[in-house]
Amino acid sequence: MSTTTVAASAATADASAEPTFEELARRVDEAVTAVAELEPSARKAADELKAAIEAVHKAGLVTIVRRLREGDETRAALFELVDDPVVHLLLSLHGIVRPDPTTHANRVLVEVRPQLQSHGGDVTLDRVEDGVAYVRLEGACNGCSMSSVTLRNLVESALVEGVPAIRAVEVLKNQPTPTLITLDALRIGPSREKEGWVRAGAASDIPEGGMSRFDLVAESGDKADVVVVNIEQRLTAYRNECAHEGLPLDDAIIDTANGTLTCPWHGFCFDASSGECLSAPGAQLEQLPMRVDGGEVWIRIET
Ligand code: FES
Repeated sequence: MSTTTVAASAATADASAEPTFEELARRVDEAVTAVAELEPSARKAADELKAAIEAVHKAGLVTIVRRLREGDETRAALFELVDDPVVHLLLSLHGIVRPDPTTHANRVLVEVRPQLQSHGGDVTLDRVEDGVAYVRLEGACNGCSMSSVTLRNLVESALVEGVPAIRAVEVLKNQPTPTLITLDALRIGPSREKEGWVRAGAASDIPEGGMSRFDLVAESGDKADVVVVNIEQRLTAYRNECAHEGLPLDDAIIDTANGTLTCPWHGFCFDASSGECLSAPGAQLEQLPMRVDGGEVWIRIET
């Protein structure tokens, strides 16, 4: 077989290989990025070429879809084809089929997400049911500050105005994440001071609905600045450092009704029992192992 024949066979084999959906999507993304980096006049020409080719494709696709809709058998084949992800993407890009409400809502949220994230917030779509989009809001989208309300309104209007099938938005409650402390860390042995436990003071001295601050020094010489929060007689010990910028928390505002503490410096709000930050996803106060033994509060500062 000549070199030319081998090359021709390889080209035929390559041409017949079906590109995957991911490969096609990647090629489109790469081309869009490359076009965006062109000089303005070249970009304009590329955009015009793209629009002209798309117009030809759309005209052809509309004709194909119309003809397939006409017969019972061909209509069944059309519906099967529309379930294929590449065909669905192609037809929806040309506005010939509408994406389902969930896909459409997720696309709309992709557009508003950068704005939410630039303010420390985020949104996830849980489901769309009977025209209602159920979403979870995170970080700065939660709470009752003006900016939280503005971000929530942004999500709501993007979904209601951008997705015809959605008429309302419901915000779901976020699940608190528990703080895990190992059982070993909680065990107080007979030589507790040697195990890093330090007596902080009498539990009865920690005001209900408030907090007390302690400068603790372990037998090893390790030191810790600690606050103990008392919400309805439930005590929790944290390092006296906000998860935002590490500033002290001992002047935090405690809201016993909601079980929260709010840092006085920049207003980040935390679940007082778990230390989970309700203002910024993923941020967490450092909780320390704590026991009440004979009315005395013991805190382990070396874990
Ligand atoms: S240091 Fe606490 S909110 Fe900034």
